[in-house]
Amino acid sequence: MSVPQPPAKPWGGRFSEGTDAFVEAFTASVGFDQRLYRQDIAGSIAHARMLARVGVLSAAECEQIVTGLDAIRAEIEAGRFEWSVALEDVHMNIEARLVARIGEAGKKLHTGRSRNDQVATDIRLYLREAIDALVGELDRLRGGLLDLAEREADTLMPGFTHLQVAQPVTFGHHLMAWHAMLVRDRERLHDCRRRVNVLPLGAAALAGTVYPLDRAYVAEQLGFAAISENSLDAVSDRDFAIEFAAVASLILMHLSRFSEELVLWSSAQFDFIALPDRFCTGSSIMPQKKNPDVPELVRGKTGRVYGNLVSLLTLMKAQPLAYNKDNQEDKEPLFDTVDTVAGCLRAFADMVPAIEVKRDNCRESARRGFATATDLADYLVRKGIAFRDAHEIVGKAVALGVREGRDLSLLSLAELQSFSPLIEADVYAVLTLEGSVAARRGYGGTAPEQVRAAIARARSVPN
Ligand code: ARG
Repeated sequence: MSVPQPPAKPWGGRFSEGTDAFVEAFTASVGFDQRLYRQDIAGSIAHARMLARVGVLSAAECEQIVTGLDAIRAEIEAGRFEWSVALEDVHMNIEARLVARIGEAGKKLHTGRSRNDQVATDIRLYLREAIDALVGELDRLRGGLLDLAEREADTLMPGFTHLQVAQPVTFGHHLMAWHAMLVRDRERLHDCRRRVNVLPLGAAALAGTVYPLDRAYVAEQLGFAAISENSLDAVSDRDFAIEFAAVASLILMHLSRFSEELVLWSSAQFDFIALPDRFCTGSSIMPQKKNPDVPELVRGKTGRVYGNLVSLLTLMKAQPLAYNKDNQEDKEPLFDTVDTVAGCLRAFADMVPAIEVKRDNCRESARRGFATATDLADYLVRKGIAFRDAHEIVGKAVALGVREGRDLSLLSLAELQSFSPLIEADVYAVLTLEGSVAARRGYGGTAPEQVRAAIARARSVPN
């Protein structure tokens, strides 16, 4: 009776004993890097075609390899592939399966290549695709924001500084501030993609290879815009992953701030918006509760994305050139970052168009907060009073309003004139919320006409 043998290691030649069982599991990455199977197979096919083109493989061998790899992809996608921890990672699992399927030709695939340049290529292909998908979700969210901003271009609300009512703004203008952040995030994703989209394959283990590889042909097949300049850097560089985690951190920081406002605004104390029921949950004990779980979770998930950025930075800080096994630890933080950002963007893109704005409450809140006090000061400046003096006069008028619980627009003309005889009946036009926002019609201002112009410009953000 023969005991079943574990699969032989592709690197087993110089070893005199098998790997310790715990070490085998401890060093394996196949549990998480199998997610790279498509990229790994695409990279291998491009490599094989190139090897045939430069005469290292015969056309027949290349065909066998390509057919074999296509079949393996189908096996994986049908859930029929048996991943083996003994074979360590996605690369050796697929290669071993190829040899099992097609024999001799399969053993030639790894000519002129190392897992070091192979894995760097796989992650770059993966991240490039991930970035493209994230830009798609970001654009969906931007579209929803723009539509909502358009609907609420005339809606009045208090603008805040120090979370105290400051000046009236339009709801659409506030939303367009979120949009401005997302536009920068989008630019950063595109910029990051440029440095992701560089081909490492051809660097081999670290020093390049003796075979006459046609790297440009590989790059062309895989859609890479450039080829790495230095083989040592090619296998050891993970800057692109760190940059991505930094971009992701900014995206989540923005979504987290946005979340914080949605949480505040949907509270009974603010009551500016209602989130759709399908994005909220209840309490198991308090029957009245409707909790803004989605924004809260997005705010919470921001922490793990920052954590991933710090993990990746720390992972790289002490590594000597070139490849080190440490690099295997890049994948989980990177994958988690992609998944988390994708989930948060998706949740927001789905939720934002369904936000119900309680216009009367927003308006009432601005009215109660003396939001037009600055407008009264500016009115007095137009009548010839220095701004500092105007500020003092209006401060006294506000104090009266606070004592009496009345907004400035509810003080009588006689009352207002007791603070300055220059005040006339036309003052009420500037004390209204509508008058206040309409007057701020400079580029980038809160006047409804400016908000509509900003929305129109934003709809044509170039790709
Ligand atoms: N699983 C490895 C990783 O993720 C692949 C590269 C292994 N290279 C090596 N020389 N052991 O980094």
